[in-house]
Formats: sequence, structure tokens, C-alpha cells
Amino acid sequence: MKKGYTMKNTKYDFQSIVDRHDTNCVKWDLFGDEFPMWVADMDFKVAPPIQEAVLKRSNHPVYGYTFVPDELFNAYINWWNSRYDFKMLRKDMLYSIGVMPSISSIIRCLTEEGDGILIQSPVYHVFYYVIEDNNRRVIVNQLSYNGGKYEIDFDDLDEKLSKSKLMILCNPHNPIGKIWSRNDLDHILELCEKHNVVLISDEIHCDLTDPNISYNPFKSGNNVITCLSPSKSFNIAGFQSSIVHTVNEELYKKIKLQLHIDNSDSCNVFAVNAVVAAYNESSGWLEELKSVLYRNKLIVRDFLLNELPSLKLVESEATYLLWIDCSSLGIPSKSLSDFLRENQGLFLSPGIDFGQNGDDFLRMNIACPESMLIDALDRFKKGIVDLNTVGINESLD
Ligand SMILES: Cc1ncc(COP(=O)(O)O)c(C=O)c1O
Repeated sequence: MKKGYTMKNTKYDFQSIVDRHDTNCVKWDLFGDEFPMWVADMDFKVAPPIQEAVLKRSNHPVYGYTFVPDELFNAYINWWNSRYDFKMLRKDMLYSIGVMPSISSIIRCLTEEGDGILIQSPVYHVFYYVIEDNNRRVIVNQLSYNGGKYEIDFDDLDEKLSKSKLMILCNPHNPIGKIWSRNDLDHILELCEKHNVVLISDEIHCDLTDPNISYNPFKSGNNVITCLSPSKSFNIAGFQSSIVHTVNEELYKKIKLQLHIDNSDSCNVFAVNAVVAAYNESSGWLEELKSVLYRNKLIVRDFLLNELPSLKLVESEATYLLWIDCSSLGIPSKSLSDFLRENQGLFLSPGIDFGQNGDDFLRMNIACPESMLIDALDRFKKGIVDLNTVGINESLD
């Protein structure tokens, strides 16, 4: 294990195993008895203020329709202002039941069927579905992968944006865990402006960076829409809560109407309490979480180096999703993922889900207590050893 990273002054419990079975949990209840390291949620208890706020609200015995008070918008405003120097005004913000519902509504109100929408692969698979399900065309700007690092191919982006109406940026980027630099973001903006393309910046993973590193919010601008949510940072995706921000009044009006048409602008009864408690009272918990995730990343990195040296961890600075280069095995990622599920009950996401150029990779969610992570890594190693001895075809027969 990497010796250089020890946890200081731990206050919260990130090491007890929380049994999530029988809670209609997508991660643990959907696919039988497996060890799930795929879907992006965490196996940690939420920050105590969040649970207290929800319990307090649940003590009131009526759970009727709920409006979104300014208190919630102010919690977002203060968080982004104080942490990221990103200034938002209440008048530029819209409430929505989630980042993907927002993106879907934005696609419907700003583009026509058949229009091209640009994404950068490998990328969060639901970006493909949301474009295709709305009968728009996916235009892919493949990220270039050289020497274990990803970069944007700006010439290709320039050319592809000339055929696109909208671009969806993942900032920071799932699954590669990259924080886009200010230069990259400025260059993207310049190209979007050149081609009159509206840019959606999905910043759902923004708080989950390595300790002492910050992501860069996409600058507000006339053709920029930002989607924000506490659901990844605080593990509260089940409350279905997010916001959309744009300073462009015309875009704002269109999105507001479309969110309403899509019935995506209403609020879950517990969401306000949970979100306000997250942003206003849980920053200490988040800082400790980031240290835990970083330590887990180093554990995986050292494990791969020592036990599975043919696999390479792609360097990352954000998210709890690790992107593992398995190209040396020469096996399509879906077959490799299926093999590990069959052979070891370990479910890692196949890279092909994130785009053609993801097929040499597996994605691993490391947001779990250390003992679980070690168990998963042992299974990973046993699976790869079996794969090398038995061979994939025989074992999957
Ligand atoms: C980049 C990205 N955007 C959006 C989402 C989902 O957001 P929501 O649950 O708010 O729709 C995820 C979930 O993994 C994600 O990784």
C-alpha cells in the first residue's frame, strides 16, 4: 500500500460496512449476489447533518407538494461562490429533478430532431442515450489517448462542432476522471462561439477531486448552460435534485418552459432539507470523504502495480471512478467484464459502454470502505489469474 497518504483527524465513519440490501438499491439489489463496482453511487453513510435534516422533516406526518425556497438556491450560490469563485444569481437558476432530465429537456427545447449533438468519448453512457432517445444524432469528438493520458483533439472538435447544434461537456470528465484546465475550457468556448453551438457543462462530479485540487467551473456566457447537483458529492442521488444555470435570458425562458412541460421542475419533499444541509453544513464531511477516496485510489494504484502489472491505472484527479487500461489482455471489455462477473461475482463497468474508444478499459467505482475495496481487488486478481490460466472462452461456456 502507498505509505505516503495517511488520514488525519478522522471524524466521520467511512469504514463501517453499510448493508444496503433490501432497500430497492440499484447497486446492491438489482443483480443478485454480486460485488457491484459499476453504478456511480457510494457505499458510505451520508453526512450526519443530511440525515438529521431528513429525519426532522420526516417527523412531520404530511408529505405533500413542496415548492423550492430561495434557501435552496442560496445554498448553491454560496457553495460555488466560496469554493470556486463562480458567481450565480438567483434569477439565472432553475430547479430540476436531475442533471439528465435537465439535459434531456434542454435537447428538446434547443434542437430539432435529426440535429447533431457533440460529446467527447469515452464518456458517461447516458449522454448517448439521451441524444438518441430524443431522435438527435450523436457526434463524437474522440479524446486522444497517448502515454496513459487523455487530451482533447481540438482540430477534430473544430470540425465536428461545425456540424453540431449543442455540445455536452463532462466537467470533470466521467469516466477518465480528468479535470479540464482553464485553457481547455477557454478553447472549447472559443470553438463553440465560432460555430454558434450552445454548450452544456455537466459539473455533477465537480466536488469530488483529489484533496487540495479544484476543478474549473465553465465560465458563464451567452451560449453556456451549467448543470449542478449535490447528488454525487453527498451521495444523495435518490432525492433527485439539481439546478440549471444560464445567464442567457432567452435560453433561460426556453429551458424553464421545457422543464415545466416535462414535469421536471417539481421538488421531492425531502430534497430541500437534504440539499441545504449538504451545502450549508457538510463541507467537513466532504473534505474527509475526498481523503478517503484519494487513499482508496492509491491502494488500487499500488495493487495494480504490484499484483496486476499488465493493467494500468489511468492517472486522474477527480471522481471516484477509476479507468483501468486492460489493453494488454487483448479482450473486448464486455467479455472481460462478463468473465469477472461469472468467475468472481465482481461487476466492473465495461469500457465499451462509454464509447468505441473505451473498449480496452474497465471502470471501477472505489467509493466504498477499504475492507470492501481490498475484497474487490482480491477478486479482480483471482479473476485475471483464472483468465490467464483457463482462457476466456472455456470459462464462459
Ligand atoms: C456525468 C454524469 N452526469 C449525470 C449523471 C446523473 O445525474 P442525475 O442523477 O442527476 O440525472 C451522472 C451519474 O452517474 C454522471 O456521471
